Amino acid sequence: MRAFGHRSRAKQMGYALEDFAGKPVIGIINTWSDLTTCHSHFRTRADEVKRGVWQAGGFPVELPAMPVNETFMKPSPMMYRNFLAMETEELLRSQPIDGVVLMGGCDKTTPGLLMGAISMNLPAIYLPAGPMLRGNWNGQVLGSGTDVWKYWDEKRVGRITDCEWSEMEDGIARSPGHCMTMGTASTMTSIAETLGMTLPGASSIPAVDANHSRMASACGRRIVEMVWEDLKPGNILNVAAFENAITADMAIGGSTNAIIHLVALAGRAGINLDLRRFDEISQHTPMLANLRPSGQYLMEDFYYAGGLRALLKQIRDWLDLDCLTASGTTLGQNLQAARVSNSEVIRPINNPVSDKGGTAILYGNLAPNGAVIKPTAAEPRLLRHIGPAVVFKDYADMLCRIDDDDLTVDQNSVLVLQNAGPQGGPGMPEWGMLPIPKKLLAQGVRDMVRISDARMSGTAYGACVLHISPESFVGGPLALVREGDLIELDVARRELELRVSDEDLSKRGAQWQPSPPRYERGFGALYVRHVTQADRGCDFDFLQAGAPTGEPEIY
Ligand code: FES
Repeated sequence: MRAFGHRSRAKQMGYALEDFAGKPVIGIINTWSDLTTCHSHFRTRADEVKRGVWQAGGFPVELPAMPVNETFMKPSPMMYRNFLAMETEELLRSQPIDGVVLMGGCDKTTPGLLMGAISMNLPAIYLPAGPMLRGNWNGQVLGSGTDVWKYWDEKRVGRITDCEWSEMEDGIARSPGHCMTMGTASTMTSIAETLGMTLPGASSIPAVDANHSRMASACGRRIVEMVWEDLKPGNILNVAAFENAITADMAIGGSTNAIIHLVALAGRAGINLDLRRFDEISQHTPMLANLRPSGQYLMEDFYYAGGLRALLKQIRDWLDLDCLTASGTTLGQNLQAARVSNSEVIRPINNPVSDKGGTAILYGNLAPNGAVIKPTAAEPRLLRHIGPAVVFKDYADMLCRIDDDDLTVDQNSVLVLQNAGPQGGPGMPEWGMLPIPKKLLAQGVRDMVRISDARMSGTAYGACVLHISPESFVGGPLALVREGDLIELDVARRELELRVSDEDLSKRGAQWQPSPPRYERGFGALYVRHVTQADRGCDFDFLQAGAPTGEPEIY
């Protein structure tokens, strides 16, 4: 009776028995929407995936999912990464799907889709959206995010006119695709490829390149084979694959956000990634990708220079080349034909952008469970610094006072933002690159030490200490910082210390009063009750725990 229902309803769409009988059903999870501008080519790409699925003898079905996007979502798309992860997992569980092509690219979509697919553990392949083309203004190349921050500061001090600003709006995002700096999107798609969840080379192809269409249909063909081979994320993702991904993250100078997402992804695979491991790998991995915000070029240049595979080949001695990938071949086999065609964009080992990776993990009485900084994107003089705190109790307070002429601040001050973490933001928004006060900008100051429990855009830069855990909203030590307290940052020693005695800190702690939760109902209430802290990946506690959910009974 149930089979009659399935067949008759497939025929309702005009299909004949020959179209679907005996074929693997391939889900295509598509995060397209009119507001997910990074994925504006996904309707066409979904058709190209279907073409591949049909060719290989599968039956494709497209499933729309939460179109998490960086540009338009409130209060922060990070809140909805876990929503997309849950939706992906439950779509795959509740529909009759044998294998899946995951279509994402804009920052949170990559971890969200992969987290759900890992928990479901059906054959899965990831199709990255690809970066957009280089931005262009007045003969200069513009990079997503990075150049917005840069020129916004110039506009605030009157060095850019409204007319020039408007011209930049026309030129900075001029094709489909995700941000084309080495921001969170490019970092996470590169990580997905290094983990083995994409076809070789997939993450570097610009969104509008004809090779991207070919990659889409290749994903469609390959997923059908993966179903017959029963090749699942659980066969691909192990400790070595995650350590490869961390190594790649360091070598590309990846976004600080990648740490949170990698911890969450590993947690879904039953692997506990300690933040200290990121730091250990960072210490011995040279950064080779000369890409903004830590370097000079953009993802389009990276692709022409050989792309991720060429970069991974350079660091092959630090990788486990035996790791299996979605292609059915090992990482080492996938890198064999790769080569660097521009050694200024992908630097050789003996001429790196930095001899260490792009991320450092800090500990101290301000961050008992860790904090993150990207030293390669900061002015080197600030990597060892002591200064008095200028404290903002939340983002609104910061906006209200940052440009006030009466603000007591100089270039040695440490800007402190509280209540911007997973629960406090809520959703840990990308507020960690606090603006330089206008009066200091006018003096020529372009970087300062800034600390918060927020995240920072992967396209941002500066001496920004981020992801302080535990966050201030739940009473972490960041909540106890007061105006004028001395804060010491020493990146070489991996230390972040508030120079206040333990006794005074415990007195302040005893006086601290929690704020009411941000939400009382709906997804927000679920989120604030169950989100973990940054050092645990900001996943939901109930999704990281317990036995796998079984296949639903059907009668
Ligand atoms: Fe989508 Fe940057 S806005 S990747």
